[in-house]
Amino acid sequence: KRMWVVQRSSIKHVLCLVVKCVLTKLWFIFVFVFFNSNRSEIKLTVLINVDALLYLQMGYANPQQKAAGIHTRLYSRAFIIDDGNRTVVFVTADIGMVSQRLRLEVLRALKEKYGNLYRQDNVVLSGTHTHCGLAGYFQYTLFMITSNGYIKSSIQPLVNGIVKSIDIAHSNKRPGRIYRNKGELDDSSINRSPHSYLNNPEDERNRYKWNTDKQVLVLKFTDLDGDGIGMISWFAVHAVSMNYTNRMVSSDNMGYASYLLEKDKNHGALPGQGSFVAGFSSSNLGDVTPNTRGPHCVNSGLPCDYLNSSCPVGGTKECKAFGPGEDMFDSTKIIGHSIYMKAKELYANAVEEVTGPIHAAHQWVNMTDVTVQINETHTVSTCKPALGHSFAAGTTDGGGDLNFTQGDSTAPDFRVSAGNTPSSYL
Ligand SMILES: *[C@@H]1O[C@H](CO)[C@@H](O)[C@H](O)[C@H]1NC(C)=O
Ligand SMILES: *[C@@H]1O[C@H](CO)[C@@H](O)[C@H](O)[C@H]1NC(C)=O
Ligand SMILES: *[C@@H]1O[C@H](CO)[C@@H](O)[C@H](O)[C@H]1NC(C)=O
Ligand SMILES: *[C@@H]1O[C@H](CO)[C@@H](O)[C@H](O)[C@H]1NC(C)=O
Ligand SMILES: *[C@@H]1O[C@H](CO)[C@@H](O)[C@H](O)[C@H]1NC(C)=O
Ligand SMILES: *[C@@H]1O[C@H](CO)[C@@H](O)[C@H](O)[C@H]1NC(C)=O
Repeated sequence: KRMWVVQRSSIKHVLCLVVKCVLTKLWFIFVFVFFNSNRSEIKLTVLINVDALLYLQMGYANPQQKAAGIHTRLYSRAFIIDDGNRTVVFVTADIGMVSQRLRLEVLRALKEKYGNLYRQDNVVLSGTHTHCGLAGYFQYTLFMITSNGYIKSSIQPLVNGIVKSIDIAHSNKRPGRIYRNKGELDDSSINRSPHSYLNNPEDERNRYKWNTDKQVLVLKFTDLDGDGIGMISWFAVHAVSMNYTNRMVSSDNMGYASYLLEKDKNHGALPGQGSFVAGFSSSNLGDVTPNTRGPHCVNSGLPCDYLNSSCPVGGTKECKAFGPGEDMFDSTKIIGHSIYMKAKELYANAVEEVTGPIHAAHQWVNMTDVTVQINETHTVSTCKPALGHSFAAGTTDGGGDLNFTQGDSTAPDFRVSAGNTPSSYL
């Protein structure tokens, strides 16, 4: 039963984490004996050689944001963890998020190559949430509208890049160990709806020091000699240092952090070429912005209204959050650099070994049919998908187009749900 007894007897590593996907819910706990990591570039030649007007960027839902040129390349980074009995694949790709269509296409390609080895229940795909990757890889109406449709030449490079990164990882598997470390990074993110956060119960808020999660979690992968071969880290911040006026394809702050750590560890290698793979993965970043100078009115330079994130002249459209840097390129570098520095420090000092058997699980949730307990006596039920005011209002990283205002729940013509949750989609 204890498979590592077979040959890789000395290695028993565990790792527990919870991953929540946009469309599916996945929980898994894993342990490993062999693993390996690798990355592969999502080739963008298609994107830049074809009529750029066709391709929008995924994230801001901004029809003006037509892809034109490259700021930084996009990569897919794959980690395979295997305890000799079970295997889990974790991929973090420099894209907005993983659509269900993309996931199905990747699984289909994996099935063709590997049969039943990599499946629905043991392949986890995650996007870094850059808002400057290409769009067009969703099959849901809302995303099709804001992406100019479902575009085959847009999804294909993503499928190819992700599968290629898994292929490389698969063919490079070797025995190793995993170590875990965590710490706090408190100057690289702020809550973009601090007022909405106050709607959370006080006893819950009292449990936390901040109104966003500042924890950086690092998994360090080494070979049996203790030489580092890879890292995955999680930090909750939106990859929106590149703002909604940007038209260049970019992996944003998270991609820049990967670039820096890989450059560090792969002495002299060109980007994307060395053997050390550093994945900076998205986590509970819903209402967390890297634009740490906060929202200001573009026309006056004054802070926006605290409650409704709008400006006296121009309303919500004039209220924008700005980063720590002089411009968005500078902000991307500053935020990416500080996430990299923290992860590097945690990586260097990681000593807590992860051990135990690996486990993976997958569950579909019918979001139309979930019962939620709202207090001791009452439960409510979810309904069919709807967009709320908070969605239409957008955020201070990119306002909505329909003149909805944050905090407003009174426009009856548009009322579809009366939630006062912060807008977290954009
Ligand atoms: C090996 O994996 C199978 C299913 O994948 C599981 O049922 C079994 O318990 C595992 N064995 C050990 C020792 O973990
Ligand atoms: C936002 O709130 C301020 C008061 O805090 C109010 O004067 C203003 O009209 C509001 N703006 C919108 C667009 O609702
Ligand atoms: C976006 O970034 C550009 C370049 O750094 C800057 O000129 C512009 O003011 C920014 N716009 C917003 C709304 O943040
Ligand atoms: C999800 O739940 C709704 C409401 O109960 C039901 O109408 C629908 O058929 C369910 N969908 C699936 C795929 O089970
Ligand atoms: C529970 O929620 C219901 C529906 O909102 C409300 O009518 C009821 O007063 C609440 N009960 C308690 C104890 O807060
Ligand atoms: C948006 O709303 C503001 C106040 O709520 C109003 O002054 C403005 O005219 C509206 N703009 C448009 C384009 O409807």
